[in-house]
Amino acid sequence: MPESILLVDDNEINRRLVRYILSTDYQQVQEAADGDECLAALANNSFDLVLLDLNMPKKSGFDVLKELQLPSSPRSPVVIVLSADNDPDTISRSFQLGAADYLTTPFNREELLARVKTHLALHNREQYLEERVQKRTAALMETNQRLKETTKQLIQAEKMASLGQLAAGVAHEINNPVGYINSNLDTLKSYVKDLLELINHHQNLEASPDNSAAREAVKEARQRIDLEFLEDDIQHLIQESLQGVRHVKQIVSDLKGFSHPEEKEWHSANLNELIDSSLNIANNELKYKTKIVKHYQELPLVQCITPQIKQVLLNLLVNAGQAIDGNGCITIETGLAPSAETVYVNIRDNGHGIEEELLQKIFDPFFTTKAVGQGTGLGLSVSYGIIQSHLGSITVNSKMGQGSCFTINLPVKQ
Ligand SMILES: Nc1ncnc2c1ncn2[C@@H]1O[C@H](COP(=O)(O)OP(=O)(O)OP(=O)(O)O)[C@@H](O)[C@H]1O
Ligand SMILES: [Mg+2]
Repeated sequence: MPESILLVDDNEINRRLVRYILSTDYQQVQEAADGDECLAALANNSFDLVLLDLNMPKKSGFDVLKELQLPSSPRSPVVIVLSADNDPDTISRSFQLGAADYLTTPFNREELLARVKTHLALHNREQYLEERVQKRTAALMETNQRLKETTKQLIQAEKMASLGQLAAGVAHEINNPVGYINSNLDTLKSYVKDLLELINHHQNLEASPDNSAAREAVKEARQRIDLEFLEDDIQHLIQESLQGVRHVKQIVSDLKGFSHPEEKEWHSANLNELIDSSLNIANNELKYKTKIVKHYQELPLVQCITPQIKQVLLNLLVNAGQAIDGNGCITIETGLAPSAETVYVNIRDNGHGIEEELLQKIFDPFFTTKAVGQGTGLGLSVSYGIIQSHLGSITVNSKMGQGSCFTINLPVKQ
């Protein structure tokens, strides 16, 4: 694009002279005869450079500079003042108001051309840089957006992977009550059959009270059925079945609360309950070899994205379980920090611990010491990201052979 110049002077002869000087190098020169015309031209067209006279009727060059509020952006034009006034105050004022240069008339032709050329070159350079900065910024923003998307997918993938690992255990947790509910129903079915039979005999006896065969049948049925035992057992079976159904319902609801893929809403949640819910999902993984000791303190509700925090807790619980060879203990402590602004959760195990050199690495994505197929090494890195996005912290303390303690701190309010 050829550079365009706006020539502002109320004196036509001056304008003609300057236009003549510029004409060999610059073709796009427009003229304005006063401040108003100048501002109108600037509003309608973009110019790279303005040669501005100060002393004009109505709107002076100072007025124009004031209204332009230079430099408003790299796209605004460069202003060189051309004036007969060589009073140092006037010159200072012009620079203060944003003029890039000041030339006193009468001026030297070469000097005018040199200054115009220099300022246009600087202006072009500035615009070029600005464009590059804008392009880079746009590219960075796009990358940032993609990074956010990928992180979201990573969190989801990690969750699905750990759910996958736990699926067998969860299925077992559900299967177990379903098994005994099933057998309880079978037993109840036979009890009901017996009871109906007894009622039947009673009805026969009622119809013919003198029939000794009917009386005998009632007696025989009562003895066989053992009503007293039946009464107890029915109550027990129903009680146990109801408990089983509640257990299954709880697991299903925990799973649902955990897996909501699109859930990114902030809730106020009770951290103790989130831990229990994650424990339910990990239960089958943990219950055979670990004792779970809970030291929960009463906690204020914490603002968080619930399924994400459950995901973190589940990761830490499963890791703790996996660190225990043979039998061990997982201790969970919760509490409110003295400031009352953050809550903490400690998940401590007495498993094999973490080597000191590895402590730096365990939060890295894909770092795992587990056998192929056992761990993706994403658990802690995803957990770290989740806690960071909650403006909290996650730290670890570990001693080889003694166990590890992971601590989460979460602000109560975001
Ligand atoms: N409680 C712990 N005790 C001992 N080592 C641990 C404990 N928690 C984590 N680690 C170490 O940190 C590594 C990384 O843990 P992380 O949860 O990120 O991945 P993973 O458990 O190996 O696999 P994934 O969680 O993806 O299934 C583990 O492989 C293990 O070496
Ligand atoms: Mg893990």
